[in-house]
Amino acid sequence: MPSVAAATVRPVRRVAGRVRLAGDKSISHRYALVASLATGRSTIGSYSSGADCAATLDCLRRLGVDVTSSRAEDGTLRVEIAGRGLRGFQFPGAEPSKALDAQNSGTTMRLLTGVLAAQPFMTRIKGDVSLSRRPMTRVTEPLEHMGAVIASNNGYPPLVIHGSSRIHGITYKTPVPSAQIKSAILLAGIQADGTTTVVESVQTRNHTELALRAFGAVVSTEGARVALTGGQQLQGGHFVVPGDISSSAFWAAAAAALPGSDVEIENVGLNPTRTALLDVLRRAGAVVDIQVEHEAGGEPSGRVRIRHGRRGALSLGADEVPLLIDEIPALAAWATHGNELRVTGAVELRVKESDRISALVRGLQALGADVDEFSDGFHVRGARKLKGGQADAVGDHRLAMAFAIAALGAQGPSMIAGADSVAISYPEFFATLEQLCG
Ligand code: S3P
Repeated sequence: MPSVAAATVRPVRRVAGRVRLAGDKSISHRYALVASLATGRSTIGSYSSGADCAATLDCLRRLGVDVTSSRAEDGTLRVEIAGRGLRGFQFPGAEPSKALDAQNSGTTMRLLTGVLAAQPFMTRIKGDVSLSRRPMTRVTEPLEHMGAVIASNNGYPPLVIHGSSRIHGITYKTPVPSAQIKSAILLAGIQADGTTTVVESVQTRNHTELALRAFGAVVSTEGARVALTGGQQLQGGHFVVPGDISSSAFWAAAAAALPGSDVEIENVGLNPTRTALLDVLRRAGAVVDIQVEHEAGGEPSGRVRIRHGRRGALSLGADEVPLLIDEIPALAAWATHGNELRVTGAVELRVKESDRISALVRGLQALGADVDEFSDGFHVRGARKLKGGQADAVGDHRLAMAFAIAALGAQGPSMIAGADSVAISYPEFFATLEQLCG
């Protein structure tokens, strides 16, 4: 996505109000993929409004899946999928022009590669400039161990997946904690012969395990070890995606940062593999009230209220980073408001939608922040009030939102280039910002 459209953000004293979020991005991808592999029809309520999850639906349509999406009365997105059963996808065509397009979405490309490893035809899958720079060997290697043959551009997209209906289960220890690697293997494993086991050093988000169970599969988990047997039939049904906690992170960061703030987030996903941000904000002095109100498909959801408490300092290392990986830009923004954040053991941030260490450091510095860059992290010292300025989100949605939250505490207005990238995960971001600042 080119970083073009700019947004101006003015400083405010506090943020206050209620937020209702569109569905979680990670869960939406998984429900769409698993519904397509299931038998029978599924409906998915509150599907993510972001472009990433729309890319997954487009790819599924290209594979012959009947997918319809419509707006429910409350404005949320409702997706209906006619499942094709295991190995029921259609060959999209061999020519490069028939390549599936994952656009900016790493989750689409990596998880679909797992699904397609077991479909007995060849599929090409490409992405945009940002996705074409993201490493794929981490998923192609285990899938090749399972029996697929996958060609890439030296480990990067585009991929040409020669799937096989005779792939077999493996036991695999992931080289980096990554829910996308785990999920690609499990989505191949559910279609493979025998048992597939994934072992992680730190348990990452477990939405794939929960989604497979919600569609009827038996999946066993023991700490950071997950196993399933291939060939289990999945059954379609009715599902509702809880609100996206990673989108809510920006409001949590703003409310924790600005004295007098009070933000309530409704209907947000509270899966314990995703709530580390709330724990660390609390540890750093914010007042955080969490109420679990509902559980469906194994996914708890509820209400979170965040208020500023005191200023604080956080130091995060390799043990915590995987649980907060998407929330680190929001925490860096929080730190610029008179707090402090030191992050190490986060080299994975360099292979996200952008090099999120270098682009985050450059953008915050452009707004006037005191930040140091390390090879595996950064250090924000927030004692100095930001001046405001021009920050480039380099087309990365989470950086655009983080710079906007940092800019709320500046002396003057700021301009964020590439602000249109928020459409990737949170198209309503700037409208909600206005509402909370008003
Ligand atoms: C995701 C996993 C994480 C995360 C990404 C979404 C998922 O990536 O950063 O935004 O839905 O599985 P990694 O698996 O690369 O850590």
